[in-house]
Amino acid sequence: MTDSGIEAGGTNLRKDDPPKDDVSGAPAGTPAPDDGSPLVRLEKVNKYFGQLHVLRDIDLSVQRGEVVVVIGPSGGGKSTLCRSINRLEPIDGGVIEVDGRRLPEEGKELARLRADVGMVFQSFNLFAHKTILQNVTLGPMKVRKVAKAEAEREAMALLERVGIGAQAAKYPAQLSGGQQQRAAIARALAMKPKVMLFDEPTSALDPEMVNEVLDVMTGLAREGMTMIVVTHEMGFARRAANKVVFMADGQIVEENTPEEFFTNARTDRARDFLSKILTH
Ligand SMILES: Nc1ncnc2c1ncn2[C@@H]1O[C@H](COP(=O)(O)OP(=O)(O)OP(=O)(O)O)[C@@H](O)[C@H]1O
Ligand SMILES: [Mg+2]
Repeated sequence: MTDSGIEAGGTNLRKDDPPKDDVSGAPAGTPAPDDGSPLVRLEKVNKYFGQLHVLRDIDLSVQRGEVVVVIGPSGGGKSTLCRSINRLEPIDGGVIEVDGRRLPEEGKELARLRADVGMVFQSFNLFAHKTILQNVTLGPMKVRKVAKAEAEREAMALLERVGIGAQAAKYPAQLSGGQQQRAAIARALAMKPKVMLFDEPTSALDPEMVNEVLDVMTGLAREGMTMIVVTHEMGFARRAANKVVFMADGQIVEENTPEEFFTNARTDRARDFLSKILTH
């Protein structure tokens, strides 16, 4: 992974931005007054890959502290949705707002807004040649200009919180998949994001490691973190989600409570999908 890859790790480092310009205005993570407005709002979002219409008139609102689980068949557009919210993918139409501000096309303003959105991927995306501690301190030091000692103190607290404090001096390859994914969560949290996006964070893990990652995510949800989680882990959805969004063929087909969705889905499309994943 190159330095530009950290962009994909949920921080806002950009090769083309001079580092000094990256931070200005309010410190990252400063809570905005809660006036009831959604933290993330998508309106009529459309996205094409060539001829392929991958996001079709997506309307979605995520309130502060809300946990939204996105579920649906392969190729339905779930990852593209996450990547669009983090502006890793440009959209072709519609509006995406984070904390009341429209995502800008590019530049400093984008870098700052992107820092509000933490992202955790299926593959852990840690820097292989850096220790776990260095992986977590890099973003805060480079982007938020946090002094090394303070960045390390904050990073250790985060690593303890996700249960891998003892692994801080190791390199990613020396950790289990579950530990690496928890390190990736700590790294995203170190940027003090307002919302966390998780794209199938447990699907590359051996089964015995899934719960240690889901437990960290459930803890975050309980502490009030706003989260958008692409996952087929129904236990997590039932335990932690306020809302399930079922996506297929680039559209949001159904929005429901987890309880209703899993026991009494409204649409045939969702019921058909559930019958397939439930028989696995
Ligand atoms: N960079 C790209 N270029 C062209 N087509 C793409 C690109 N990324 C995704 N697609 C296509 O867009 C559609 C939506 O893909 P996406 O990865 O968002 O689906 P998904 O719901 O996340 O699927 P999965 O459950 O398999 O992860 C698919 O048809 C996919 O092949
Ligand atoms: Mg995907």
